[in-house]
Amino acid sequence: MSDGSQMPALDVVALREEFPILKRDAYGKRLVYLDNAASAQKPRAVIDAIKIAMEHSYANVHRGLHLLSNETTAAYENARETAARFLNAASSDEIIFTSGGTDAMNLVANAMGVDEIGQGDEVILSVMEHHSNIVPWHFLRERKGAVVKWLDVSDDGEIDLGAYEKLFTDRTKIVAITHMSNVLGAPTPVKELTRIAHEHGAKIFIDGCQGAVHGGVDVQNIDCDFYAITGHKLYGPSGIGVLYGKKSVMNSLPPFKGGGEMIDLVTTETVTYNDTPHRFEAGTPPILEAIGLGAALNWMSEKGVDAIAAHEANLRDAALDALSKLNFVRVFGRASNKAPIIAFNVDGAHPHDVSTILDRTGVAVRAGHHCAQPLMERLGVTATSRASFGVYNTFDDIEALIKGLHKTHEMLS
Ligand SMILES: Cc1ncc(COP(=O)(O)O)c(C=O)c1O
Repeated sequence: MSDGSQMPALDVVALREEFPILKRDAYGKRLVYLDNAASAQKPRAVIDAIKIAMEHSYANVHRGLHLLSNETTAAYENARETAARFLNAASSDEIIFTSGGTDAMNLVANAMGVDEIGQGDEVILSVMEHHSNIVPWHFLRERKGAVVKWLDVSDDGEIDLGAYEKLFTDRTKIVAITHMSNVLGAPTPVKELTRIAHEHGAKIFIDGCQGAVHGGVDVQNIDCDFYAITGHKLYGPSGIGVLYGKKSVMNSLPPFKGGGEMIDLVTTETVTYNDTPHRFEAGTPPILEAIGLGAALNWMSEKGVDAIAAHEANLRDAALDALSKLNFVRVFGRASNKAPIIAFNVDGAHPHDVSTILDRTGVAVRAGHHCAQPLMERLGVTATSRASFGVYNTFDDIEALIKGLHKTHEMLS
């Protein structure tokens, strides 16, 4: 995250006009949408890109020899180029479209599980992973006898690199770790984590579903083997994500799903496979969603990922400051470079009740375990509320949250 001091300011008032949904109300009150870490709203540019494709230029991709198929294929492949630029991949061949973050993680775990991870082989995870980056590895533990080793984090979500390095043995095959906690907002030192993994001969998968939303990503600079993003948190559609995978690594892995498009030759006796990325994109892909994701990534790049991060850093500071003045609120995670993802609890109140009362004031926040039960256990809670800010949020939204929390406290205490 940027410190917000030297970036050109975003015109957030004008930018909000680009999001049709922000014009609607919630129970007759101004909608204050603070559930962006779950899913972000969509700008007109994304809505239009999908609408234009559906109305004007839609057919299946790669297979047709007619005008509409060729146009759709060009738009789909264009989105792949856009994603490659967004992540600074060396080649668009390293961009595999998936149905989202969860799909990307299942792809990597399943493909690695065929030959590379067997009985007694080790996988390192942090305790602040999203379930989507835990359960596929548990599958390998249950089905292949792999060993899952856990990296602890500080209360703020920070990683001790010394403790991390001690987890490696000559059986360590892969580290699967988040770029940013979806609960604590803490970023992880991905470049260092990658260097250490590679020094020990292990691969590294980085879950960028939150990290890529709040700052620029350069996969070549990080040097990771795999990096996943998901469209619906990046102001794009749901049902689409990207797995970045180094070309040499991906071409050495067996495919995860079988079907059309991923093959080279199929006979009654045998099958050979296409190269990456097509090797991992069996069947008709999420065409419209990929086009929408391309529009979203272009939109973010036009606004400037640094300018977005700077605006969000200002929101984070203001929100943390305002929350620290409420003596009935406990905030989880105060890493100095955290994203504007703020988990909190109100004394004596269940997060579900907090969320329900806030909702009636027009403020949408998330409550629950956030698909991060090992982290909940580490923090000694079963659930929290979570306010997460996006590019269109304002200081007025923070004021509405604080006002709503006063009301919640009055009602529940
Ligand atoms: C850190 C993190 N990883 C993975 C996911 C799952 O992504 P998707 O919803 O695209 O499957 C999420 C979604 O909440 C997340 O926050």
